[in-house]
This record gives sequence, C-alpha cells and structure tokens, in this order.
Amino acid sequence: MGSCLTARSDAERPVAAAEGLLRWFDTRERDVPWRDERDPYRIWVAEVMAQQTRMETVGPYYRRFIERFPTPAALASASLDEVLKLWEGLGYYARARHLHSAAGEIVERHGGRLPESVEELRALSGIGPYTAGAVASIAFGIAEPAVDGNARRVLSRLFDLDDPAAAALADAARSLLAGAPSRPAAINQAIMDLGGAVCTPRDPLCPRCPIVASCLARARRTVALRPARKPRKPTPVRRAASAILWRGDEFLLVRRPPTGLLGGLWDLPGTEPVEAPDPPDGRVLGEALSRRFGVQAQAGPAVATVRHAFSHFRLVLDVLLFEWEGGEPSWEHGSKWASPDLATELALPTYLRTVLPPR
Ligand code: ADE
Repeated sequence: MGSCLTARSDAERPVAAAEGLLRWFDTRERDVPWRDERDPYRIWVAEVMAQQTRMETVGPYYRRFIERFPTPAALASASLDEVLKLWEGLGYYARARHLHSAAGEIVERHGGRLPESVEELRALSGIGPYTAGAVASIAFGIAEPAVDGNARRVLSRLFDLDDPAAAALADAARSLLAGAPSRPAAINQAIMDLGGAVCTPRDPLCPRCPIVASCLARARRTVALRPARKPRKPTPVRRAASAILWRGDEFLLVRRPPTGLLGGLWDLPGTEPVEAPDPPDGRVLGEALSRRFGVQAQAGPAVATVRHAFSHFRLVLDVLLFEWEGGEPSWEHGSKWASPDLATELALPTYLRTVLPPR
C-alpha cells in the first residue's frame, strides 16, 4: 500500500503508537480494580475473573475471593465446593476449577509462588496465551502479548488487519511492546483500555484517539470493517425439566459432572436439555428421575419456567414438584437430601435461586 495513504511509515508506526499509548495511559483513571496490584497471584486471579465477564461484575467477586484465599496455598487447600460457591454467578465455572487445580500445582511445583516465565505459566491448568501474557507482563514485566477481544480490535485497526489469526495479532502486539521495551505492563493494558474506552466496536471515538495518526485503518477508511465480524449463528433453544423432589422437609440435589457445563455445581435432578419443540412433561421427568438417579417419585404441579442464556444455547427449564416414593439416589457424581437452609450454602446455578424453596 502506498505511503501516501498512511500517516506514518510502517517502520515508524509501532514506535509512535507505543509512545501515544503510554502518554494516554499515564494520564487516565484506572480501568480495572487491580491496576495498582503488584502481587502476581492477585493479578492472575483478577485476569481469570475478567475473562468473559464485565468489569463491574468482577470487582466484588475479586475482593471476596482474595479475602478468603489470599495466597495460592490457601486456595489449594480449600475444597472445590467452597471455591465454586465463591464463584457462583460469575459463570464459566471451568475457570474456577482450573484456578483451584493450578493453585495446587503452584504449591507442589513452585513452592507456592507463581512461576516467573511464560513457559512455566503456560504449563499450569487453565492458563492459555492471554492469561500467561497478562500475568507475565503485568506481574513480572516480561514483554509478552496479552490479546483479549478489545486488544484484537485495536490491533486489527492500527495495522489494518482483516481477520488476523492469533499469531498475526501476537506479532502486532510484539511490535508495540518493542516500541516501549521498559513498560510491557502499561502497553498491554493501554491497548486493552483503548479498546474498551475509545476504539469501540461501533462508533469508535477516532477524534479522541491518542494513536489516530498511526492508525492504518483510519488512513484507509476501513475502521468499520476491522476486524471482520464472524457471522453469528442464532443460538438454539434447548428444553429441559427439573424436579424439586421432596422427601419430608428435604429435597434432592445432585452434583453435576466435574467437567462441562456448570461442572461441579449442585443442581436439581432432571432431564438433559435438548432441542425439541415441546418441554418434557411430568411423566418424562418421572422416568428420567428413575433411570438417571434411581428414585421413584410422584409428579406434582409445575411451579415455574426458568430461562437462562448460556453462550451456545438458551435454556428453557420447567421446574415441577415431585414427592419421593422410593429408591435411594444413585448418581456417580454425588447427591444429597438438602434442607432449604443447606441449599443456600451450596454452589448452584444462579438461575435456580428464584425457584428454590425459601429458607
Ligand atoms: N481486561 C482484562 N484485563 C485487563 C487489564 N489488565 N487491563 C485492561 N483491560 C483488561
């Protein structure tokens, strides 16, 4: 592309952009609650929580989590149940399971302190390129990219990349990191902040952008096209039915399998969500209670229909009352008869809270 279209030459661009980013970053209010944090463990926890989760939501969860588990050793010695309970409502529960496992690995392999190399960080449970880059740069000052969704958009526009693969984005980020070798934490976070505050998906605030003079997409008028948007498939609706199955003044809870959707959380027993035109009725649910959980029970009325959007499907869940008639629960992942009081102490999907019996 001819240089007449570009405000800066290709060689100048990363250095000029890095300088612009730092100047802007240094005069800003902090965008994330842990910006002044130095403890690598806390930075790791915060960065994991912030994935797929809005920053306003993260704050209170982060503070509660750090108060209860101030070190990797404290987290490693807690039960997964307790970790999941503190995570309840944040979603994407695999993150909590991985944090818990990785804390154990940090205690066993690294004497309870986060390792200080990208390779060792990557070897821990659940730590992918983003988390390793964020922790390495923010906690240890290593010039490693940390490309989240906001950074992807900023980098795609700055370098006018159409639909860049991870490696191309990492290269783009590395060129900016090389433009300010002493400040990788600030560069990575400035890129992410810019994506959140200025270089937004729709209607970006280009006139207010500190690196507009370096932006290749701006010069070529392709900002609105970068990065290419993936066509979204409509999310399917899946239907299921679950039982509040009473035996005396307790009802049955079953633990979900340790991996997969809502892995390790407690749940009402029920049918698997499936794409079907009609919801499962009391007879179908009764059969599922017998076949899957080994209990016989008498169907009562439906008490609620709950809707919840997961990332890849929308759940429509009918909740029915049942009365226990016989059979001890047999479910390999665990089950318990719970009082309403006990149920409030266990980690359950938040969308069930409105239908559970009050304590
Ligand atoms: N999003 C997630 N982590 C972030 C960070 N450290 N700075 C800015 N945005 C972020």
